[in-house]
Amino acid sequence: MDTLQTTIRDGVLIMEISNLPVNALSQPVRAALLAAVERLTSEPELRGGVILGAGRTFVAGADIKEFGKPSLAPLLPDIFAAIESCPKPVVAALHGAALGGGLELALACDARIALPSTVVGLPEVTLGIIPGAGGTQRLPRLTGLTTAIRLICSGEQLKAEAAHRLGMLDEVVVEDLQGAAIAWLNSAQAGKRPVSAMRVPEEAPEDIAKAEQAALRAGKSRPAVVAAITVVKEASSTPFAEALAHERAAFLTLRASPEAAALRHIFFAEREAARLPADLQQTPRPIRTVAVIGAGTMGSGIALSALEAGYTVILLDQNTELLAKSGDKLRTQLQERAQAGKISTAVAQEAQARLTLADGWAGIALADLVIEAVFEDLAVKHEVFRQLDTHAKPGAVLATNTSYLDIDAIAAATKRREDVLGLHFFSPAHVMKLLEVVRGAHSASDLAATGMAFGKSLKKLPVLCGNGFGFIGNRIYNAYRTQCEFMLEDGAWPEEIDAALEAFGFAMGPFSVADLSGLDIAWRMRQARASTRDPRTRYVPVLDELCERGRFGRKTCAGYYNYADGKRSAGSDDVVRAIISEASAKRGIARHVLTTEDIQRRALIAMVNEAAQILTEAIAQRASDIDVVLVHGYGFPRWVGGPVQWAREQERKYLERDLDIIAAATGFGFVRGDLDILLKKTNEDNAS
Ligand code: CAA
Repeated sequence: MDTLQTTIRDGVLIMEISNLPVNALSQPVRAALLAAVERLTSEPELRGGVILGAGRTFVAGADIKEFGKPSLAPLLPDIFAAIESCPKPVVAALHGAALGGGLELALACDARIALPSTVVGLPEVTLGIIPGAGGTQRLPRLTGLTTAIRLICSGEQLKAEAAHRLGMLDEVVVEDLQGAAIAWLNSAQAGKRPVSAMRVPEEAPEDIAKAEQAALRAGKSRPAVVAAITVVKEASSTPFAEALAHERAAFLTLRASPEAAALRHIFFAEREAARLPADLQQTPRPIRTVAVIGAGTMGSGIALSALEAGYTVILLDQNTELLAKSGDKLRTQLQERAQAGKISTAVAQEAQARLTLADGWAGIALADLVIEAVFEDLAVKHEVFRQLDTHAKPGAVLATNTSYLDIDAIAAATKRREDVLGLHFFSPAHVMKLLEVVRGAHSASDLAATGMAFGKSLKKLPVLCGNGFGFIGNRIYNAYRTQCEFMLEDGAWPEEIDAALEAFGFAMGPFSVADLSGLDIAWRMRQARASTRDPRTRYVPVLDELCERGRFGRKTCAGYYNYADGKRSAGSDDVVRAIISEASAKRGIARHVLTTEDIQRRALIAMVNEAAQILTEAIAQRASDIDVVLVHGYGFPRWVGGPVQWAREQERKYLERDLDIIAAATGFGFVRGDLDILLKKTNEDNAS
């Protein structure tokens, strides 16, 4: 199929890029575009050109799939140079997305006209690279350095009106995009206006320094952010061609880095996660009304998400005081989100009207989907599901938000096990994108598609999981945290372990996380599982001891750390150290130093080992889903790509060595995951 269609209208060459779904600038597109620009240059009867995109979007950027391979001519900078040096004006007509190389293409044109719904941006840093086709030099010439630094270092995407206000677009039109582009060519202002010939607007040096510092902080000083700042600043100090060469060199170096490979991996893994196996690709059950049982933090967050997505929501709780409070809070949150510009005022008002509060079970009779978010206890869940069995309408999906309980055991309380599904949201539920969709042994075959479609409608990232303790995320996190507890007993203090893992890139170390979420939650879970635990398995009693002393973490101002004035103490106190030292002594361990690398590798290999088991047990469909879960739900550094991607980057012999180390540390009960399966599956993912 032709990747570029050309037509002539009123002496104007219309160049329509057609490389669906998102018109990525793959090699054939580049070749066809360059040929079209050469034609525009050479044919005297043509007086100007319009570049636009076929289908739902302008151009989403360079073809990311080509990034792991050698570059093939023609390259984007060559095409953009040809557009700028073409004596006839060229207009970019934008709709859908003009991102990365797509926006750079538009910036190389003489004018940019867009529909209001268009989004524009340079998201390259999110892929571990910088714009590689002039974006770092042309954008600041239109917006100034401070805005360019902010946009390029964050990858922020702007709606057309906002981009117009910043000077990135010339016009925003509500209809007939192509006609508007031709009209611009007919207007008095038409003519060659290469952005590369413009001067960068003057700004105060202290404002530029501030923008730079803010970008470094927000972008965690990742290599792409550092490189972007250096190159963008050259726009005002270095001749265009020279700065362009520096941009390209930095782009190529970054593109070949493991960090960029990891970020590409997670980009595609996120999209792959949405795909269901053939037998589960069924028509989702229609859902319009959602009932949420439990008006606590989790239930309210789910309700807010569903309201914003346009569902009619019934929030049910027998505690009328809590229910009223949650209702008020939801209304306030909707107003606040409208004030912050996250949703429109009309959507906020309309969403408030779609919320009903109910304190009796009869309230759920109309719901197509019921999501329970009550206390994490099997008996409590059973009581709820018995009520759902009585009050929910036939065919309604009965979902549990449990984070680790057995879906089949929960479903046993109903006579309609086939309608039961796990929908595990992460807290805060209206913010976190991850959603684990858990199939039980008896879940009907259309439920997976229903859960995935519902998740997507909430703009979440749904990942299909099998039913097993902790599903994907909590199961792996549990293995990681357990290994960290072993390291406490072996010789490291909580702050050493947290610091090592934060240095690796985790948003927070495991003991800071535990203090934040409340140690009592883990304590309760341990108690619930105590009867099934083999006494020969290694068990670190430190958390239980802390809880017995009333140290539940932040909420009691003491846990692994102290929180006087709400701020975390730098290290653990004498009480905590005494509890840990006593645990080591009881186990007969002579405490020894663990280096930062020891800590990082043991924690990571514990995750990798569990990931391998999860794959063998078919709890995860594919290795890359595990990475998506860890990156989106557990603060795993996105730039490492997830535990499976990390394992892929390691030498096999070191993975084996580390597996032996954690096997010895765990002792009885250690199950060795099959690395071959994990890494083989990963290779298959790569090939797809
Ligand atoms: N290259 C290759 N494939 C791409 C792509 C790209 N730039 N952008 C999207 N795709 C693919 C996706 O992988 C997906 O493929 P499958 O259907 O096989 O899964 C398909 O296009 C549709 O994408 P989405 O599912 O993401 O569709 P969406 O409608 O939800 O979102 C989008 C559309 C906003 C454009 C989104 O795809 C997106 O953000 N794309 C990436 C944009 C980007 O990062 N561009 C910069 C590229 S780097 C660059 O351009 C460097 C440079 O300076 C030269």
